[in-house]
Amino acid sequence: MTARELLTQLPAFKALQQQASELKNQSVIELFEQDPQRGETYTVEAAGLQLDYSKHLIDDNTLASLSALADQAAVYSGITALFEGSHVNNTEDRPALHTLLRASRGDTLRERFADVCAAREQMKAVADKLNRGDQSGFSGKTITDVVSIGIGGSDLGPRLVTEALQPYQGIVRCHYVANVDPADLEQTLAELHPDSTLFIVCSKSFLTEETLANALSARQWLLQAGASTADLDLHFLAVTSNLQAAQSFGISPCNCLPLWDWVGGRYSVWSAVGLSCAIALGWENFCDFLAGAERMDEHFRHSRDSDNMPLLMSLLEIWYCDFLGAKNHVVLPYDHALRLLPDFLQQLTMESNGKRVSAAGRSLDYTTAPALWGSAGTIGQHSFHQLLHQGQLLCPADFILPLSTHTDKAEQHSKLVANCLAQSRAMLVGRSLEDARSALLARGMSDEEAEGLAPHLVIPGNRPNSIITLTTLTPATLGALLALYEHRTYCSGLLWGINSFDQWGVELGKEISAEVLERLSGKEGKIMDPATERLIKAWKDTPQ
Ligand code: F6P
Repeated sequence: MTARELLTQLPAFKALQQQASELKNQSVIELFEQDPQRGETYTVEAAGLQLDYSKHLIDDNTLASLSALADQAAVYSGITALFEGSHVNNTEDRPALHTLLRASRGDTLRERFADVCAAREQMKAVADKLNRGDQSGFSGKTITDVVSIGIGGSDLGPRLVTEALQPYQGIVRCHYVANVDPADLEQTLAELHPDSTLFIVCSKSFLTEETLANALSARQWLLQAGASTADLDLHFLAVTSNLQAAQSFGISPCNCLPLWDWVGGRYSVWSAVGLSCAIALGWENFCDFLAGAERMDEHFRHSRDSDNMPLLMSLLEIWYCDFLGAKNHVVLPYDHALRLLPDFLQQLTMESNGKRVSAAGRSLDYTTAPALWGSAGTIGQHSFHQLLHQGQLLCPADFILPLSTHTDKAEQHSKLVANCLAQSRAMLVGRSLEDARSALLARGMSDEEAEGLAPHLVIPGNRPNSIITLTTLTPATLGALLALYEHRTYCSGLLWGINSFDQWGVELGKEISAEVLERLSGKEGKIMDPATERLIKAWKDTPQ
């Protein structure tokens, strides 16, 4: 792909700047008064998801200019390039073909698709065997528990999917260990038995320090429990693109499932990285998860402007970040099952788009990825929602709301729904000084008391938010939801003119950590800054 101009140099950018200065002081409630149909017209549907974006500070003119911006930033050719396997990851000179991982046909990418299908067969065989209870450990006991060891993209997606789809859980329990802190593995293993536990070492590079340290400890745990080195084949699988490193670690090639350099870690849950999900949920459910994502892919590939849900969400992100000064974005799933979604989206959006130069290496003069955070509703309401309602940050919100519950407690679920709708509406309407004063007087306060307290109750409102609804959280709707955010992230990267598929920023910390470790282990190594030196000494002086 050829480098395009930076965002601020695109003609539509000027029009949007002008519109932002006009709309800044506009109330969305007034926009609703001018157009009572807004709730319906500003809604888009795709792959079982509905996005209501009517509570945003936008009008038809803004939407038209945002669509023009997408055209000028060559977003549509960028979308085609993604699906066709162009080298959209230009700094690493490779495609980003996560869409192929959930595709039902290969089109022009036949060879790679054949590899994907072969890997799916391998995954299916592993998942089916475990779910039939046909795989035994070193003592002959059936494998009942799987521990997936990985970090970042080799952990967050599978962990989220397994958690979110608990109602589909089969007979094999899956656990996740990511942190190099030995307590993570130790606590997980405390509940498990070595002879009925299988480890999946998930690492695209098979070089990640955290993962290798945990995998070694897991091996020790098995050996100490009486397994021989020959038995380890019954207890270890690897998912990696570095077959040689997995082999050097001691995992036989026939126990390795492939990954390719054209799958980014944070986009890899659809590959064998998702093997633990396929085991936990069963193969059919995993296929439904892929199919849901493919439906979103089709929508993304063939829809335009505000009919294209991922693109629209991305344009809203650009609107708030680059025209209205937002530096935060909050995601509020009103579903306990989706409580890990913000963690997953943090890596997806911030590792992809937290960049400071364009794809061509030019310095950017605008903000890219906002900080993304959030938690499950209603938990956040009793914590950070105070800031969302009365703080001074512009923080657009995504509410995510399944309209039914997997529990048999529909009545209690209605309370969750009520809270979600109430939060979204409170952000929109706020509370005026006058209303605050009247409410206090109605509670029996004196004029003077009401006058003093009322300013504290004022909520400005006009806080932009979307609501994404889905009928039920199923493997298919979850697949569609994750694909939606993947494509939103990619579109924002295209609009900002950056490469969303590399992550050079994480490398320096890894290098320094290796240098610090050398010093902690007593070797001479590199002398660091005085603050780091002091803390190295503090660790050395602490009895271990
Ligand atoms: O450190 C960042 C990172 O490279 C992520 O991009 C990746 O998902 C994670 O580490 C794990 O990498 P690997 O799968 O190679 O172990």
